[in-house]
Amino acid sequence: MTTSTNLVFHVHPGGRLHGRLRVPGDKSISHRSIMLGSLAEGVTEVGGFLEGEDALATLKAFRALGVTIEGPGDGRVRIEGVGLHGLKAPAGPLDLGNSGTSMRLLAGLLAGQAFDSELVGDRSLMSRPMRRVTGPLAQMGARIDTTEAGTAPLRIHGGQRLRGIDYRMPVASAQVKSCLLLAGLYAEGRTCVHEPAPTRDHTERMLAGMGYPVDVSGGTACLSGGGSLRATRIEVPADISSAAFFLVGASIAPGSELLLEHVGINPTRTGVLDILERMGADIEVLNPRETGGEPVADLRVRAAPLRGIEIPPELVPLAIDEFPALFVAAACAEGTTVLTGAEELRVKESDRIQVMADGLQALGVEAHPTADGMVIHGGPIAGGRVHSHGDHRIAMAFAMAALRASGPVDIDDCANVNTSFPGFVDLAARAGLGVTVS
Ligand code: S3P
Repeated sequence: MTTSTNLVFHVHPGGRLHGRLRVPGDKSISHRSIMLGSLAEGVTEVGGFLEGEDALATLKAFRALGVTIEGPGDGRVRIEGVGLHGLKAPAGPLDLGNSGTSMRLLAGLLAGQAFDSELVGDRSLMSRPMRRVTGPLAQMGARIDTTEAGTAPLRIHGGQRLRGIDYRMPVASAQVKSCLLLAGLYAEGRTCVHEPAPTRDHTERMLAGMGYPVDVSGGTACLSGGGSLRATRIEVPADISSAAFFLVGASIAPGSELLLEHVGINPTRTGVLDILERMGADIEVLNPRETGGEPVADLRVRAAPLRGIEIPPELVPLAIDEFPALFVAAACAEGTTVLTGAEELRVKESDRIQVMADGLQALGVEAHPTADGMVIHGGPIAGGRVHSHGDHRIAMAFAMAALRASGPVDIDDCANVNTSFPGFVDLAARAGLGVTVS
């Protein structure tokens, strides 16, 4: 899953984005479609599945756990669910590549199995904090070994009796919430997770869509163990986190107009729209509709002058993956943008505060990292060379920055764009970005 070659994006300065396009399927929903489809009774058919490395890592893990899965082909996957108690011991460690969602959700699900398992990943994933899941799982009765630093490999001892807990999450994390709900499927009694701020609720929606009762109210999600999941059809909408690069690109490049089709607009994911609109972006939400329990719409975005803002901290969890793109919007805005309350960005696929600040500074932007955010003074962007540190979203954000740069932008270490956005270069080039790869 890791690659030793340095894939470099070379992006010509200037240009504009235009046309209509559909970005690939939602990563969070794609992961969950494989996980819950595998645990359901009957055959689950998935359409619009994200054929990116992260979701494929989840798919391969479930094959290794004995589930028959056909595809993906053309976004279609067919999963022969084995029921909650039908998974088999894997022959070796499960390699989850770069995918934090796979590792954290699987930790919960595998803690409830009768067999042992081991979770590993690439260098980035093996250095990300896992105590946030192993701690509450231990309270449920799970036995999981980590390194002394609380990182993977995770060695999960099967055959433990789990019991439901009432857990107040210290950080607003959908991965932690989902992990505990998945463990809760195997626990005696009731598992309740309280979140300090709203986080993405795809797990709760999909469980409910498969007939598993989940009670959600006032920032708390509860379920009782011992039920069963019914196979269903899942239509995965386009990923708003991938659309975000185009929303920013079209906003900052004069003369741009793009129509982004069939984008998921679940209200726990639309912080990027709220923040861009506060900055003065021209985004229309067209034709809102629902598919498989998830709201979707087409998004029309036209270039508009942006202004710096203080980003309301309550929007942070609702836009948590979009800050690399939003930092580029801030660099192109008039005035100062201030982000606070976003220390979580330091433990994503890279330290997104430091890596974005370094890259912006390399392009001549006045960007000052802080412990929990960034202060960015909008102004001219120069050409230059930036390092993505193997972080897909950093690479794509800087590709869009070139639309406003005065010289070419070269971005190192871009292979991981394939974790969430296969075909990014072709799609962006078709929309008008002057990007090539070497
Ligand atoms: C995800 C939750 C978020 C997000 C990640 C996907 C999910 O992480 O950053 O890309 O699918 O549950 P946290 O919940 O840890 O913030």
